[in-house]
Amino acid sequence: MSEAVSFPQDRTCPYHPPTAYQPLREQGPLAKVTLYDGRAVWAVTGHAEARTLLVDPRLSSDRQNPAFPIPMERLAGIRRVKSPLIGVDDPEHNTQRRMLIPSFSVKRIAAMRPEIQRIVDELIDRMLAQGPPAELVSAFALPVPSMVICALLGVPYADHEFFEEESRRLLRGPSAQDTDDARLRLEEYFSELVARKEKDRGEGLLDDLVAERLHNGDLEREELVRMAMILLIAGHETTANMISLGTFALLEHPEQLAQLRSNDSLMPTAVEELLRFLSIADGMLRVATDDVEIAGRTIRAGDGVMLATSLINRDGSAYADPDALDWDRSARHHVGFGFGIHQCLGQNLARTEMEIAFRSLFRRIPGLRLAAPAEEIPFKPGGTLQGMVELPLAW
Ligand code: HEM
Repeated sequence: MSEAVSFPQDRTCPYHPPTAYQPLREQGPLAKVTLYDGRAVWAVTGHAEARTLLVDPRLSSDRQNPAFPIPMERLAGIRRVKSPLIGVDDPEHNTQRRMLIPSFSVKRIAAMRPEIQRIVDELIDRMLAQGPPAELVSAFALPVPSMVICALLGVPYADHEFFEEESRRLLRGPSAQDTDDARLRLEEYFSELVARKEKDRGEGLLDDLVAERLHNGDLEREELVRMAMILLIAGHETTANMISLGTFALLEHPEQLAQLRSNDSLMPTAVEELLRFLSIADGMLRVATDDVEIAGRTIRAGDGVMLATSLINRDGSAYADPDALDWDRSARHHVGFGFGIHQCLGQNLARTEMEIAFRSLFRRIPGLRLAAPAEEIPFKPGGTLQGMVELPLAW
């Protein structure tokens, strides 16, 4: 056996899997990685195997299971709190998810298009008015999804500095103290917001949940507060990273960008390929509750499993020339949004936001370019959602 690879590790290039994961690709479709505490867990890198495992009920998302793998010391607290949706199994998961599905349907999200376009245009107007250079993360990539999810949920965007900062601390620490403290502050914020909505119903998904689900007992108060937190965080951090990293990757691939500019109908395919190529949620975690046989190996009950999104999405047996960004391939069946019962609830929204954001940005600012050498632009560390820390642009 070759030496175990540790997980997570920083990317070497912001849009490629860490080069240190190369041995996993070679050992695939199943290998082992070592976590910070020395624990060895399975690393799934094969596309077919990942999709089989992600629909297998013997792989649990229950973070309160004492055997649930903890990827970083500062996240040790995740076992103490119950996370709705993402951290529970069926049937509880299904009950929660069913309450939310209508708000994220293709039809409902299509109805939000004009509002998303208005937000995107206003932010671009502001960037153009201020003139180059601009820092895309703070001027565009973060505010677009943040404003959109606020409108959908009924969260006041005026509080964005607070919740963006606390979400950042919750996801990226740096210490366990930061993570725990940020969670408490966000819980407090949402408790107060829910209490306000009980007195004064406004427009938004949270208002509907308070009126229709809290009062008839379908949802516990604590469950609703945590659900609101997850929706807000998942709704802005992820898409913000896709917009910043996607813009960086497109500027680094001028040929593909030119194709995109000359053929507008390519955009939906391009968004799918970017989701595959960038794999920003790099590493989905599960714990086995029973023995599972796969690819000639046995995952034992109690074993931790890490599904290595960036490697699964570049499995050569599923995608020809997997390390190339290619609009001609069908990137469908990527696991950038996960797969199975936990597959991203917000995927229709995220796709729509990305499509409008990239199309408008590159159409309205034709001379867009990096304002610093690519290798000097900071990107996020491994073990967090991948994306750019900053993206200085000029035109
Ligand atoms: C491009 C942006 C996004 C990416 C790459 C992304 C990625 C993912 C992934 C990989 C999962 C599955 C995690 C797992 O199985 O362990 C997931 C689940 C989820 N996502 Fe997203 N997401 C994005 C945008 C959004 C948005 C805009 C929302 C809106 C609220 C959202 C809400 C959720 C929720 C609630 C779950 C948990 C679903 C469940 O457990 O049933 N995501 N997402």
